[in-house]
Amino acid sequence: MPHRDHVRLRPVSEKDLDPLERLHEDPDENGELGFFGYRNPGLLRRQWAESGFLTPRGGRLTIAGDDDRFVGEVQWHEVLQGPASPCWNIGISLLVTERGKGYGRQAQRRLVEYLFAHTKVNRIEASTEVVNIAEQRALEGAGFTREGVLRGACFRSGAWRDMVIYSVLRAEAGPEA
Ligand SMILES: CC(C)(COP(=O)(O)OP(=O)(O)OC[C@H]1O[C@@H](n2cnc3c(N)ncnc32)[C@H](O)[C@@H]1OP(=O)(O)O)[C@@H](O)C(=O)NCCC(=O)NCCS
Repeated sequence: MPHRDHVRLRPVSEKDLDPLERLHEDPDENGELGFFGYRNPGLLRRQWAESGFLTPRGGRLTIAGDDDRFVGEVQWHEVLQGPASPCWNIGISLLVTERGKGYGRQAQRRLVEYLFAHTKVNRIEASTEVVNIAEQRALEGAGFTREGVLRGACFRSGAWRDMVIYSVLRAEAGPEA
């Protein structure tokens, strides 16, 4: 289990691009729940060269293990619940070899701290398929509250899937228990 202080989020560097591409484009790395078809090859590298994946509407950071190795990535993008009420929807993906070691919970906790510290949103949400128990446990461990089920919300591998939605509000985010 990684120590909480050893799970670091940092901007994506050039040496992260190979494993990041693998994470996005290799069906074996994506796993059953994470593959949504092939995407524009080279797009990630172009976005990295343009913005470093950090824009006012969203971003992407590397999850770095204790020796600074690339373990996976977290991302966020803007969702509007009202015309003047932006919140963040976050996502995460870990290399297959790094799953089940506690990085998922710690990295999402670090991302919540980061986003509440550096942006003004009141709400951070995350959704995952009802069958993705690891992500639901990781979100609960990171301080998220389960809100409900979004029926038939996500198309993957030939079928529409139910999602569970979670959130954490600014007033609820505190130091790790
Ligand atoms: C989902 C994911 C981020 C979870 O991160 P992780 O580091 O593997 O999970 P953690 O080690 O932090 O474990 C969190 C909890 O889930 C449980 N868990 C881990 N893997 C599990 C599995 N395969 N099945 C059931 N429970 C699992 C752990 O026991 C732990 O439970 P606890 O809170 O009772 O201690 C990671 O597995 C992953 O990247 N999966 C592929 C991509 C993905 O599904 N992303 C989310 C898409 S919405």
